[in-house]
This record gives sequence, structure tokens and C-alpha cells, in this order.
Amino acid sequence: MSKFSITGGKSLEGTITVSGAKNAVLPIIAASLLCAEPIQLDDAPDLLDVNVMNQVISALGATVERNGSTLKIHAHEIDCIEAPYDLVSQMRASIVTMGPLLARKGHVRISHPGGCAIGSRPINWHLKGLEALGAEVKMDHGFLDVSSKGLRGARIYLDYPSVGATENIMMAAAMAHGTTLIENAAQEPEIVDLATFLNEMGGKVRGAGTSIIHIEGVREFHSTSHTVIPDRIEAGSYLLIVAATGGDVLVQNVIADHLKPLIAKMEEAGVRMIEEGDGIRISGDGVYNAVDIKTQVHPGFPTDLQAPFMAFLTRANGTGLFTETVFENRFMHVDELKRMGADIKIEGRSAIVQGIQRLNAAPVTATDLRAGAALILAALTAEGTTAIRGIHHIDRGYEKVEEKLSRIGADIVRED
Ligand code: UD1
Repeated sequence: MSKFSITGGKSLEGTITVSGAKNAVLPIIAASLLCAEPIQLDDAPDLLDVNVMNQVISALGATVERNGSTLKIHAHEIDCIEAPYDLVSQMRASIVTMGPLLARKGHVRISHPGGCAIGSRPINWHLKGLEALGAEVKMDHGFLDVSSKGLRGARIYLDYPSVGATENIMMAAAMAHGTTLIENAAQEPEIVDLATFLNEMGGKVRGAGTSIIHIEGVREFHSTSHTVIPDRIEAGSYLLIVAATGGDVLVQNVIADHLKPLIAKMEEAGVRMIEEGDGIRISGDGVYNAVDIKTQVHPGFPTDLQAPFMAFLTRANGTGLFTETVFENRFMHVDELKRMGADIKIEGRSAIVQGIQRLNAAPVTATDLRAGAALILAALTAEGTTAIRGIHHIDRGYEKVEEKLSRIGADIVRED
């Protein structure tokens, strides 16, 4: 089993480049199923999750070719409406093929994705939205069978601004008859990127990035090329890593606006950053003050940066309170950080982090993607050599992480 072997204590210097956003490209690949003509996606990160999504749409009949960071997708014919269980069970996000497949073929079968390490993760709001558009949903031996004799635009109020539900409904509504309004929609930058892509293919979507999205259905989409937005979570993870280790690094290919909630909290802790071209230059000495973090939907503090931020604060001066409001079980990294000496107590949905002088290397395991990023950060600041197992989770969302970090001076080696 592969592991990362990381020796802490190196200060980082140079430039690190952020890849295209995993959470933007996944629904965009799914949305390509709406179009019978060729699609080109640039800045598509080469990640485990992206590979799984490519395999899902290939199994449905699309062709997918990768050349560097460019994906060429052609969903000329969709000859299968069932997303294979072994792929869907590997990646929950494949549920976003449901909306476009339903819109294009009028019928989709997909295994119920079930829970995962960070909570039970139901999909009731996805289904409620599709039903409002006229779909009939049945459960059949662990599979969701969703069909429609013709989707019709509707006014849909989401009980909660779920990212995946907003995406599934947007993609189904993009090809429905008439107009759909999604109220209390998710406002994440990845939603805006999906809307941009749908519009580039000939869709009519307005209001993405606000709480009300207005979609006028169209009958056909046309060929286009699209450049995926930079990954704000990868960028945020690198900013936190450099702040924690100390050094001077330009994190490039960043949309600073997408990182406002993180930047505000890092500045409150005492980190110095300046925008430079399409990047952010960060310089630091690794010594900061504790702050409180409450995760929220965008533009609040992103839940995906909660774990790396907690690792960053383990050595801060004072006590920080972390409150996780988005997922029910997202403190899996805490026990691993404690193995490295961190002083953290969990109380319900909050974690209290008391800053300590230093972390010590220990064998640890990444339990999910962002917990993995937190452990990399902790290991890079710890005394000694840390072995991180479970790194397939990290490969799901951080492209060539060891290469990128080695290039700026980190001591990180992948061992098979
Ligand atoms: C997406 C991101 C993930 C990020 C999350 C929140 C992708 C591939 N993943 O996940 O990295 O952490 O947004 O920013 O883009 N919920 C329900 N019923 C539903 C849908 C969601 O109860 O029908 C709950 C979930 O269990 C969770 C919360 O709502 O507690 C937020 O989920 P959601 O916004 O849907 O996140 P995802 O789209 O799964």
C-alpha cells in the first residue's frame, strides 16, 4: 500500500501552480452528456475522481480522450442509461450524471450512493427537485430508477442550498420544456462554472452565484470548449501549508475572490499575503494567533478547508473553536492530529484546538481527502519523519501533490 513519507521543518520557497477545480470539472463532465456534439475541457485535473467520472460517462456511451490537461468528450450516442455500481460506489459525485441523463434520455438507473466517511449524505433534495420537474423516482434493488415522459420547468425551493442538488436540477432543467427557478440555490463558484459551461453550449442559465437561478430549457446543445476554474480548495490548502511551514511562495492560478473567506481568517490569524498577477504571494514564519472557524455554505468558510485549517492552527498561540455545520461527521482528522501531539477536544459539532509548541512525527492515516491534506500540512511542520497511509484519498483531489510540494522545497516522497 502506498504512503507518503514526509520530513518536517523545511521552509518553502518558489512558485506552486494550482490545477483546475475537481468540484467544477466533475459536474461539467456530467453536463457534457447533454450534448451530442464534441466538447473540449481545458485545465481538467488528472485525478482519481475525474478518471472515475470519465469511466462513468464512457460506460454510458460517450467517448473521452485525455491529452495533458485537456479532455475531449463526445456523447454522440448514449446507448446505456445505467451508471455502473462499481464506479458509482467509488465516487459519490457520480450522482450528478442523474440530471443530464434524465434530460437527454428520459430515463436513468443509478445505484443509491449511500453514506461515506464524513456522514450519511442523503440525496433527497436532488430527487425532490427532479420530481418537481416531472420525474418519477423508484427504488429498485438498491438502484434509483428515475424516468420522465418529458421534463417541464418548475419553481423549486431547496430546503438547503445543496451543491450537488443545485447541479443536478440545473442540468435537468437546462433541457426541460419551459422555465425553472431554483430558489435557495447553492452559490459556490463551481455552480457558476457549470452555468458558464451550459451557456457556452447554448443553454440559458441566469443568476448562478446568487440564491435564485433562472433556467430556460433548450432542446439542443452545441459543441464548445471550456476552461475549468482553478481549484480554490487546492489553492487554500497550499496557502495554509506555506503559512504553517514558513517561507515565501507564489501560489499561482488562483481566483482570489473565491478564497475570500479563507483569506479573511488567515489574515485574522496574522498571515501576510498579497495578490500578484493571477496568484497570491504568501510569506510567513509559521507563528500565528488562534481564530475561530465556523463552516458554512459559500460565501461562508468552506467545509473542505476545515481540516487543513485545523492542522494549521494546532501550533497557534491560544485556543480556536471550530464548528462544523455542513457535514455531520467531519472531524475524522482530529484523532490522527492528536497522534502527532495536537491538543484538540471534540464537543458535538465543535472542536476546541489549544495551540501547542510543536507536532511530532507519527504514523497516521488519511481517512478522507481533506483529512489527507491536513495530515500533509501537519507532517510538513512536525519534528521527524511522518508516514501517511490512505493516500489514495489524497490522489482523489490533489494533482501531483508530492511533485508540486517537492518543487518548492518540501521533503515528501511517495513510497509504494
Ligand atoms: C459538494 C462538494 C464537497 C463539499 C460540499 C459542501 C463536490 C463533488 N463535492 O458536495 O467537496 O464539501 O459540496 O461544500 O462538489 N444533503 C442532504 N440532502 C441532499 C443533499 C445534501 O441532506 O439531498 C446534506 C449533505 O448530507 C450535507 C449537506 O447537505 O450534510 C451539504 O451537502 P451538499 O452541498 O449537497 O454537498 P455535495 O454536493 O455532496
